Amino acid sequence: MKKVDWSNLPFGYFKTNYNVRSYWRNGSWGRLEITSSEYINMHIAATCLHYGQQAFEGMKAFRGKDGQIRVFRWEENAKRMRSSARGIMMAEVPDELFLKAITEVVKLNEDHIPPFGTGAALYLRPLLLGTGAEVGVKPADEYMFMVFVGPVGPYFKEGFKPVSIQLVRDFDRAAPQGTGHIKVGGNYAASLQPGVRAKKEGFASVLFLDAKENKYIDEAGPANFFGIKGNTYVTPDSKTILPSITNMSLRVLAKDLGMKVEKRNVPVEELSEFDEVGACGTAAVISPIKEIVDREHKKVYEFCKDGVAGPVSTKLYDKLKAIQEGEEADIHNWNTIIE
Ligand SMILES: Cc1ncc(COP(=O)(O)O)c(C=O)c1O
Repeated sequence: MKKVDWSNLPFGYFKTNYNVRSYWRNGSWGRLEITSSEYINMHIAATCLHYGQQAFEGMKAFRGKDGQIRVFRWEENAKRMRSSARGIMMAEVPDELFLKAITEVVKLNEDHIPPFGTGAALYLRPLLLGTGAEVGVKPADEYMFMVFVGPVGPYFKEGFKPVSIQLVRDFDRAAPQGTGHIKVGGNYAASLQPGVRAKKEGFASVLFLDAKENKYIDEAGPANFFGIKGNTYVTPDSKTILPSITNMSLRVLAKDLGMKVEKRNVPVEELSEFDEVGACGTAAVISPIKEIVDREHKKVYEFCKDGVAGPVSTKLYDKLKAIQEGEEADIHNWNTIIE
């Protein structure tokens, strides 16, 4: 393997040694196969290609200070992938197969796990595809589950530095009774136009509002939104938001710190009342937000005026990272050690 500059890795694709795959045919999952191919040979009428019958997950494995490899809350990713599968009528991947796949693929690519202290991690990408051939709009009769991995650096190149984000009103990410709550490709396709435009206009990400009333904070691009108000952690309650495992964990840690946690509608105007705001997800844990610009209403909400993340966001970020990297006791049993 060529020498890797672990501390300067982008968040991008990185070729590794192997990926693992299993096929669902005739009503059951086959044995896990190992391959070094980066390609999938697929029927031209596969439903994932035409009707978006595909779902994915994103998770990380960390090399701890003690040298051990930890995967964070994989059961939640497995559960969410099953929820995605049910949502668009795909075969569900059972926990045993999911765990076997991530364990194997991490072990097979052990040399690609970034060393402790580099800020990088091994990103795991489980993927579920409808591979059966159909021309009519209906669920496939065959599926493929695979996991590939790659070392990644921090999601935003700024690292744990406050970013500016753009609130948009002329795009919706997901419909109220649609697929916003599951991790399927169509949601991401819908976010590309506003996402690319926001980057072009100088922002790290977009902030969507609820699609029905255009009143409440919804998803923060590929992350959940949270705000800190005094001793309270506030995060939107919405049917169109992906239930973030990071957000779920931060809520527990906030409670551990003696904070109040509120999951409720967050009207846009409330932005002016928060002491700190941030976006949270696997890729960055927390991306502190210094500025939210309402593109259409030309309004600007400012936070962390001294240019550094607020104290609560910093404490939560440090705590979650310390658990993930084995520096702090894993009192909630979130880590699985890969041996
Ligand atoms: C749309 C969206 N929301 C939220 C998240 C954060 O979820 P998690 O914390 O499970 O990574 C992600 C990333 O996975 C995402 O793509």
